[in-house]
Amino acid sequence: MKLLVFAGSTRQNSFNRRLAFATAALARAAGADVTHIELGDFNIPMYNADLEAAGTPPDVIRLKQVMADHPAWIICTPEYNASYPALLKSTLDWVSSPVKGHPEWTDGMKSSRGKVVGVLSASPGALGGLRSQSHLAPLLINLECWLAPKNFALGRAGDAFDSEGALKDERARHSVQAVIDQVIWAAARLQPA
Ligand code: FNR
Repeated sequence: MKLLVFAGSTRQNSFNRRLAFATAALARAAGADVTHIELGDFNIPMYNADLEAAGTPPDVIRLKQVMADHPAWIICTPEYNASYPALLKSTLDWVSSPVKGHPEWTDGMKSSRGKVVGVLSASPGALGGLRSQSHLAPLLINLECWLAPKNFALGRAGDAFDSEGALKDERARHSVQAVIDQVIWAAARLQPA
């Protein structure tokens, strides 16, 4: 199963980037074909319809293609003001926007329709950014994704990782693994025959 993993943060010491790294490692160990991307590697400005009218940035097309190529995704989201960050909103807005006249991308939902998506979050707070997930869920459903019922919020994230980037707590590892397993299970069943 081709699994795409990314975090909704570009911060250098981001807990969600670390969680994405740890998740990718666990998924690889479980036999998934994992692509771990960094949104910081994509040159995508804040969404603006005037910019779009002048031409969709090439990295938006590149990200659409990466997302389209993966039936299963796991997103690690920070929590800002009880929601998910503007970076994630803007990026997913670009991804969902039709590219007028483009041979492949006039259908805005083509890169997200039918994907099985697991959501994780991490925060220094006790709730682990759980509230961000409840805001991200309707956006993903609007993108015609299937949202995995299992989720996980990593609280006290500043103490959660060892020097190799792995999750120290076995219960946290099991919780992340449960999301990975469910996403892969469901994506395998939703793939066209
Ligand atoms: C936060 N943070 C935060 N944390 C939280 O648990 N609940 C919240 O509502 C908020 N709100 C919030 C608003 C703003 C504007 C900022 C900048 C931060 C703290 C946030 O979770 C923390 O900075 C994380 O470290 C961000 O995620 P990354 O970058 O570490 O992945």
